[in-house]
Amino acid sequence: MNSKSNVYALILAGGKGSRMGNSEKPKQFLEICSKPIIIYTIEKFMLYNSFEKIIVLAPKQWVKTTEDIIAKYFPENDRIAVVCGGPTRNETILNGINYIEDNLSIDEDTIIVTHDAVRPFVTHRIITENIESAKKYGACDTVIPATDTIVVDDKNNFIDDIPDRSKMNQGQTPQSFKALTLKRHYQTLTSEEKEILTDACKIMLLKGEKVHLVQGEVFNIKITYPFDIKMATAILEG
Ligand code: CTP
Repeated sequence: MNSKSNVYALILAGGKGSRMGNSEKPKQFLEICSKPIIIYTIEKFMLYNSFEKIIVLAPKQWVKTTEDIIAKYFPENDRIAVVCGGPTRNETILNGINYIEDNLSIDEDTIIVTHDAVRPFVTHRIITENIESAKKYGACDTVIPATDTIVVDDKNNFIDDIPDRSKMNQGQTPQSFKALTLKRHYQTLTSEEKEILTDACKIMLLKGEKVHLVQGEVFNIKITYPFDIKMATAILEG
């Protein structure tokens, strides 16, 4: 297998960032220390020669802006493509796979490393282990051990369960897959399942696939709320 031509990065930037509150732009375009968050993320993947193409999936009305920002920070590059995202995170991933099928080369061993545009602190080690793990096992997720006890509610303000913390993890990204396997499984979901299964790894689980675990990092945070911008600034300045 030619590993170079068979590994693609999908940078998922198709969301609105509504939990960030009143902002004139989706959070992936907000600046930290004078640089857009999405650029920090893309930089991590640009350092990595294994990726034949880095596919950035942006909301339809932000595609042009995304192209302009990328042209500013990575002039004359031919490794980044900007593609329209979908209405859900999984549909965004599907758009990325369809883009590869229509414009690039794909086979059963093609790996996609899917990563949240708003997790700018992913490391070289995490990316490397994702690629190795997806090649070996077909799918992997990045996690860190849960630090807080997880309390499951019964939807009526009472505790339903307190699972054993030693088995609990917090999901991060990247999540990496054999692209065509994920697409096939996604296409067999009912529309109800598509609504519930917001996590791509869960699709694989539901379809009986094994999903390997890659250890993440505590600092591989997802920027979700305004507080996370402060946290990200502190990490960068530190
Ligand atoms: N994402 C995407 N396409 C979607 C929805 C989300 O590519 N249709 C991406 C987001 O841009 C983000 C990542 O998935 O990089 C993680 O999702 P989340 O933090 O939930 O982002 P948003 O959906 O933008 O945030 P919110 O739920 O607050 O609106």
